[in-house]
Amino acid sequence: MKKLKIADGIYMLTMNVEDVLFEGIWEIANGVTLNSYIVQGDKTAIIDGVIGWDGVPETLYKNLEEIGVDPKSIDYLIVNHMEPDHSGWISNFRKIKDDFTIICTDKAAKMVASFYGEDKIRVVKEGDTLDLGKGKILSFHPVPNVHWPDTMYTFEKDTKTLFSCDMFGAFGRMGDHCFDDELTPDEVEFFEIEGIRYYSNVMATFTPSVKKAIEKAKTLEVKTIAPGHGPVYRKNPGKIMDDYSRFAQYAEGAGKNEITILWGSMYGMTEKAVKYAESILKREGVKYNKLKMPLESESEMVATILRSAGIIVAAPTYEYKLFPPVATALNEVGRKKITGKAAFRFGSYGWSGGAEKELAEILERNKMNWDFIESVEFEGAPREEDLKRVEAGVLALIEKMKSKVVA
Ligand SMILES: Cc1cc2nc3c(=O)[nH]c(=O)nc-3n(C[C@H](O)[C@H](O)[C@H](O)COP(=O)(O)O)c2cc1C
Ligand SMILES: [Fe+2]
Ligand SMILES: [Fe+2]
Repeated sequence: MKKLKIADGIYMLTMNVEDVLFEGIWEIANGVTLNSYIVQGDKTAIIDGVIGWDGVPETLYKNLEEIGVDPKSIDYLIVNHMEPDHSGWISNFRKIKDDFTIICTDKAAKMVASFYGEDKIRVVKEGDTLDLGKGKILSFHPVPNVHWPDTMYTFEKDTKTLFSCDMFGAFGRMGDHCFDDELTPDEVEFFEIEGIRYYSNVMATFTPSVKKAIEKAKTLEVKTIAPGHGPVYRKNPGKIMDDYSRFAQYAEGAGKNEITILWGSMYGMTEKAVKYAESILKREGVKYNKLKMPLESESEMVATILRSAGIIVAAPTYEYKLFPPVATALNEVGRKKITGKAAFRFGSYGWSGGAEKELAEILERNKMNWDFIESVEFEGAPREEDLKRVEAGVLALIEKMKSKVVA
């Protein structure tokens, strides 16, 4: 765990978590940080706890002592969000100290009670404040459904620091550089990619609420954004706000100028057409990614689809339906409410077909509203004329996605 000073009386504690499935699902290849913040006036508040998964909150207490904060002196536990990655240590804290007050929204209060049996809670509403003394005044600003219904921002008025919890967060472990102005260009890119992965895995379903939360942050004249996961933005908080606005656009059909081929093939018939489509993309100079299902992790799959302006779905018929790993992937993308993508499908069948019907069902069930070029299906191996139809489809997709590209 690392300890960092953000401003006088404001500290960050951060630890890298690796080798876990985030939320029990997402294989986060590059880890994630859990960040916690301490604000000290005459009274002391801790905003979100960093421990919950490893069952060693003593590490947190030791680190608090090292920055001169006696854990027993903590008066307020501010729970921006009840998800246990931020709050899992409350019960343990109760064992060493009994007279602290939990501060959270009404929706969080209900969960803090049901998950941890806590009842010493002060419920806050939009604009409520807490004066810690020595000029440190916190205000509270609910941002519901980012990522749970209970979530809020905490804002420190003196330094204009926004403790944004899951909002403006990213996956990715942090080395020595935890502030935006310290990041190398490679690290900036790393956290953008990991930010997209985080957005797609954790936030995409809540895009309408994320957009409202961005607007709320803009009303607060923020100087520093201190999220619950990922780097702190003290030089240019506008950068992560702009990034999040763009990620929200990605979830609504925009994307980077690249195509992702989401594909699977049993005996290589569809794969022949995939290779042909690749040769067209190369010829046309279009950047593309390939996701072979089911080999790709779900985390990487959702992230890559989210950021792409064009999607090629290449999959055969299997037992009268779409090849299952590709159907599963599309269902997951649909559940994440990634809508409006420009897309094109092709695939092989043996006798009846059926993949196309299931694709339509998946799109309809999840209200994905993807804009598809007419699909190309071929019996067995693709013939010359099938490949020509694939080429025409790829060219039409390149054309269609142009209006969806954002930098
Ligand atoms: C387990 C299995 C189930 C299949 N089910 C169907 C089917 O219901 N309808 C159909 O038209 N073809 C079906 N096929 C045939 C495949 O769609 C066909 O072999 C196709 O060429 C496979 O393309 P691929 O080599 O890209 O996987 C099935 C093939 C397999 C192996
Ligand atoms: Fe969360
Ligand atoms: Fe979180």
